[in-house]
Amino acid sequence: MNDLLLRTLRGQDTERRPLWIMRQAGRYLPEYRALRERFSFEELCARPDLATEVTLMPLERFPLDAAIVFADIMSPIGALGIDVEFAPGPVINKPLRSAAAIQALPVPDQEEIAPTVLETIRSVKNELADRVPVLGFSGGPWTLAAYLVQGRGGRDFPALRALAADEPGVLADLLERLTDLSVSYLRGQVEAGVDAVQIFETWSGVLSFADWSALVKPHLQNLLEQIGELGVPSILFMQNAPHLLGGMISLPADGFSVDWRVDLSGLRQALGPQKVLQGNLDPAVLLAGPERTSRAARRLLQGVPREGHIVNLGHGILPQTPIESVEALIEAVHDEAQEDRRAVASAGTGG
Ligand code: CP3
Repeated sequence: MNDLLLRTLRGQDTERRPLWIMRQAGRYLPEYRALRERFSFEELCARPDLATEVTLMPLERFPLDAAIVFADIMSPIGALGIDVEFAPGPVINKPLRSAAAIQALPVPDQEEIAPTVLETIRSVKNELADRVPVLGFSGGPWTLAAYLVQGRGGRDFPALRALAADEPGVLADLLERLTDLSVSYLRGQVEAGVDAVQIFETWSGVLSFADWSALVKPHLQNLLEQIGELGVPSILFMQNAPHLLGGMISLPADGFSVDWRVDLSGLRQALGPQKVLQGNLDPAVLLAGPERTSRAARRLLQGVPREGHIVNLGHGILPQTPIESVEALIEAVHDEAQEDRRAVASAGTGG
């Protein structure tokens, strides 16, 4: 298997930086858009044969170093008896706003949680035959709560923050339930064959450092400790949260994925070589075309030492991204390894 990603997450040196792209299976791919003409997003997720096809689409086109299973962070939420629609982001028609609604949530058994996603994982593992590792994922508890309480995505989730201020105990109950749900779901994913997992805590940045540390961080700590017991490495992604970095990197994840607002080079210098960092090109740079992408990627590679770096974007790839920009990013990463090999070879021959 191409195990660049897994070796990096284990703290081992690799001959090349691993590279995968958040939201790599999606709307920037013409073949995905063609499939979406015939099927809704929900249908694609519900059909393991189609979800497998979409998972593999980016791997057919590009030499990426991991597959990420095609599903959504809201995929396990159906097991709580909550209906989720996509328009295009998740929408909950009856948001959870009271202690009673939260206490009434069922606690599903592992096999009730997103069984079609687990079937997709088994089929992807089978199709890939160990070509590259398969990443599983879950939403972080705060990010799942954001959709459940607010009812839909938005800029800063006022209903969720109001709940945090008004009834922190009720919020804690919800975050505990969502953490348990994620652990069961991820255990199912590991049993189905995923090689590593990423936690998408996309909306953590809407809280202050003090509130996040008190209200959310203990649940992430608990979640990551339990993932550690599942025996696969974990990556924690937080978006728009440079003010939470100090707390984030003290959590027990194997890798830390940060967005483009963070100076990755400075962060590496501050942390030393131990922590694995993932990121963090601005997805919007890819919209500016392959030359700009290539330049930005080379600058990133020059600024951040190879050891312990997983190349990725700072957030999901945007639907309008030209394919050529993705190719330019991959080429920059592959070129660096080739240049390293040439330098070693010429040093060896005295030339
Ligand atoms: O990374 C991958 O390619 C795997 C699949 C994946 C999807 N969603 C498929 C999807 C993953 C890892 C996610 C995670 C996800 N979903 C997050 C966390 C990552 C992030 O971007 O911050 C969040 C916040 C969501 C919620 C969500 N789902 C939104 C906001 C949207 C709408 C717009 C968008 O970003 O695409 C969705 C729908 C969704 N999830 C689509 C896909 C491919 C688009 C569906 C379509 O219209 O075809």
